[in-house]
Amino acid sequence: MCGIVGYIGGQNAAPILLEGLTRLEYRGYDSAGIAVLGAKNAQVHRVVGRVRNLAAALPKRLTGKVGIGHTRWATHGPASEANAHPHTSEDGRICVVHNGIIDNADALRAQLADAGVTLASETDTEVLAHLIARSGADTLEDAVVEAVSRITGTYAIAVTDTAHPDRLVIARNGSPLIIGVGEREMFVASDLAALVRHTSQVAHLDDGEFATVFATGYRTFTVDESDTTKPATEIDIAAEDLDLGGYPHYMAKEIQEQPESVERIIRGRLDDRFGVARLDGLNLTPRELRGFSRVKILGCGSAYYAGQVGATMIEELARIPADAEAASEFRYRNPIIEADTLYIAVSQSGETIDTAFAVEEIKRKGGRVVGLVNVVGSTIARACDGGVYLHAGPEIAVASTKALTNMAIGFALIALALGRVRDLSNADGQRIIDALRAMPGQIKSILDEGPRIAEHAKEFATANSLFFVGRVRGYPVAREGAQKFKEISYRHAEAYQTSELKHGPLALIDAALPTVAIVPADELTDRNLAAVQQIKARGGAVLAVTHEDVDFGELDVPRIVVPKTEPELDPILLTIPLQLLAYHAALSLGYDIDKPRNLAKSVTVE
Ligand code: AGP
Repeated sequence: MCGIVGYIGGQNAAPILLEGLTRLEYRGYDSAGIAVLGAKNAQVHRVVGRVRNLAAALPKRLTGKVGIGHTRWATHGPASEANAHPHTSEDGRICVVHNGIIDNADALRAQLADAGVTLASETDTEVLAHLIARSGADTLEDAVVEAVSRITGTYAIAVTDTAHPDRLVIARNGSPLIIGVGEREMFVASDLAALVRHTSQVAHLDDGEFATVFATGYRTFTVDESDTTKPATEIDIAAEDLDLGGYPHYMAKEIQEQPESVERIIRGRLDDRFGVARLDGLNLTPRELRGFSRVKILGCGSAYYAGQVGATMIEELARIPADAEAASEFRYRNPIIEADTLYIAVSQSGETIDTAFAVEEIKRKGGRVVGLVNVVGSTIARACDGGVYLHAGPEIAVASTKALTNMAIGFALIALALGRVRDLSNADGQRIIDALRAMPGQIKSILDEGPRIAEHAKEFATANSLFFVGRVRGYPVAREGAQKFKEISYRHAEAYQTSELKHGPLALIDAALPTVAIVPADELTDRNLAAVQQIKARGGAVLAVTHEDVDFGELDVPRIVVPKTEPELDPILLTIPLQLLAYHAALSLGYDIDKPRNLAKSVTVE
C-alpha cells in the first residue's frame, strides 16, 4: 500500500525520490507525487498512475536538495491528481506525505472549512498540512507535534517547510518509518526497499516517535519533546536481492529461490544431538515452553493458511491443542486471552495492520505472543515478545511464495521445540530434522517439473471457476492453492474440504468446473480417491497433486507427483506445485503477475 520516501543532502532530490518510489511500486498504488524544495518554494508534481508517468511529467530542470515523495493507495477519495500526495498548506509552505488513515478527518475537515480554509482534495492527509501551517508554534517540530495530537488513527508522515529548508520532520504511529543514514545525506522511507541502494545503516522509528532529519544527522524525540536515542543499525539486505536477476517476474524468481531460502531458515537451528530445534529468539525457557497448554496462531490471508498448516503440525508433533484464526477477525470478538496459551503472529511483511492489532490486543490483555516474521525490525517483529525470523529474503511479488514455505518450516521448528519438552521422542525429533534437511533438494526436484505443470496451468486457466480440495493436512494446501490461483489469474477458485463436497458443492461439478485435488499418500488416501471418483463420475476434470505411491487404479487422472517427506511435513511440498500452477495460469492469460489488480503487498490499513 502507500509508500513514503524522503531525501535531504547534497544531491538533486528528484531522481533519488523517483528511484525510491520505483522501489516501492511492488506494494501497490494508484497515484504518485513528489515535492522538492527549491530556492523559494516547494515544487509539487503529482500524477495518477505509475511512477514512470510521474518521471515523464517532471520539468527537465527540477533542482532542489530536499524533498519527499509518495505512492498512494486510495482510501479517502478516488485516485486523482488532487488526491495524490504530497498535500500542501494553502500558502504552499508546508508539504506532507502520509501513510495510514486519519479516523477523525471528516470532523477536522469541517473545522478547517469553518475557519475559512479551502480544501483542495478529498483526502484525510490534507488536514495535516493545514493544521501544521496554522499552528502558532515556534518551531516546525512543535507544529507537527501539535497537529498529530489533534488526529486519531494511524500515520507515518514526512513534512517539509519552505521556512526550514534544512530539515524534514517525520512522525510515526502504527505505520512504519525508517531513517537511512548516508555520508552527509539522509534518507527516509516507509520500507527498506527504498533505502538499500543508498545505505545499509538504518534507524526505525517507534510508534509515538518523531524525528528531525538534517543532512548531517537526526534527532528522535517523543510528543513531550524528550530525546529518544535511536542509533542506526546495519541491515542485511543487499541491493541485488531486490533485482529481478534475469527472471521475467519476481514471483518466478521467488518460487525458484525456495531451495536456498529453506536452507537459510533451518541453518544453525537444527540440533541433531537432542532431535530439537534451537530457537533462542523465542525468548522462552524449556520450562516456559512446557507450561503452555494451547497454541493460537494469528495471521491474514495466505499467512493464515500457513498458520493452519502450522497448527496441525503442532498438534501432531507436540500434542498440544492448536488452531489458527484470521487475525483480521480476532480483536473484534473480544477474545479471551489465556496465560497458558502461546500466541503466534505470522506475517511476511511484519506490517499487516490486522495482525499487528491482534498482537496489540494479546499484549494489552497480558498474553505471551511470539512472531514468525520475515522482515527484520518490522512492526510485528518488534511488538512481539520474541520470535523466529523466516530469513526468506526480500519478497517483492504480491503473491507470496517463498515466505509461506518458510512460515510452514518455521512452524515445524516451533513444533519440534514444543514437542521435545513433552512427549516427542528424540528419534521422532530426528526424523523431522532429517526430513527438513532433505527439503531443499526435494523442492528443487518439484521446480524441475515446471514445464509440465505449465501445460496443466494453461488448460486450467481457461476455466472460469475451479475447486481446490484437500483433507486435514491437505485442506490448508487447497486453500492456499485456490488463493494463489485467484490472486493472479482472476479466476474464481474455491477451496473445500474434500469430505464436504457431498454436502453441497458437488452440485456444481460438471465439465466446465475442474478440480485440483490434493491426494497425499497417507491415512486418508482411499477416501480422497473415492472423492476423485465421484467428481469424475459427474464429468468433472481432476488434476491430482499426489505422491508416487498413490495407486489411482482405473482412474484416468493427470497427476503432479511430489516427493514424499514425513507425513507431518507433506503440506510444505504439496503446496509448491500450486504456486507454479497459479504462476503459469496467470502467465498464459497475460496478466500483471507481480502486481495483481486491487491488491497490495502489505496491507497496512484495515
Ligand atoms: C498472499 O499471496 C497474499 N498476498 C496475502 O494473502 C498475504 O499473505 C496477507 O496479506 C498477509 O500478509 P503478511 O504475510 O505480510 O502479513
